[in-house]
Amino acid sequence: MKHKKHRIAIFASGNGSNTKNIIEYFALSNNIFVVLIVCNKPGAGVLQIAEENHINSLLVEKEEFFRGTSYKNDLKEVRVDFIILAGFLWKIPLNLIKEYPGKIINIHPALLPKFGGKGMYGSHVHEAVIAAAEKESGITIHYVDELYDHGRHIFQAVCPVLPDDTPESLAKKIHLLEYEYYPKVIEDVLLNI
Ligand code: GAR
Repeated sequence: MKHKKHRIAIFASGNGSNTKNIIEYFALSNNIFVVLIVCNKPGAGVLQIAEENHINSLLVEKEEFFRGTSYKNDLKEVRVDFIILAGFLWKIPLNLIKEYPGKIINIHPALLPKFGGKGMYGSHVHEAVIAAAEKESGITIHYVDELYDHGRHIFQAVCPVLPDDTPESLAKKIHLLEYEYYPKVIEDVLLNI
């Protein structure tokens, strides 16, 4: 079966280990191309990853992102048709959600709807999960709407939280789930639209 081609942008704010994993997964794909890395943090590790992989990056600035064009023209210029959030810590403005309806997905390092919302990112999530004595945590991959961590769920995977887990050890388990599943779920979503 012949699949439609997709040109994706990955939005990330931090180290970019998921971004790296996604880039590597699609490196040999004939249908799915990572064409742009969008970052809001000068000096973030993900910018280095973009450079090493010869992928263009775009450093976005708050005023233009939230009250200007939201960089729609920059995305169009390289014909981005789908957006992947991988540790991007700004809310996506309505402007972009309308431009990419049903075409933005996010990964959250917990089992939403628990432990989501503003301020719930990275280690803050794992600290909250451990403080609440949860027996399990995991990942949620979901569509993005105008509320934080709110859009329709696409996929969840679970891991145990053991009595001796620390935020760091839990983060490691969650990252392994992310690496295993996020690229496959992205591929599945893209091959079915
Ligand atoms: C990932 O664990 C991702 O789930 C999380 O940020 C981390 C980024 O790691 N996202 C959120 O917390 C969103 N609320 P990475 O930069 O190494 O890919």
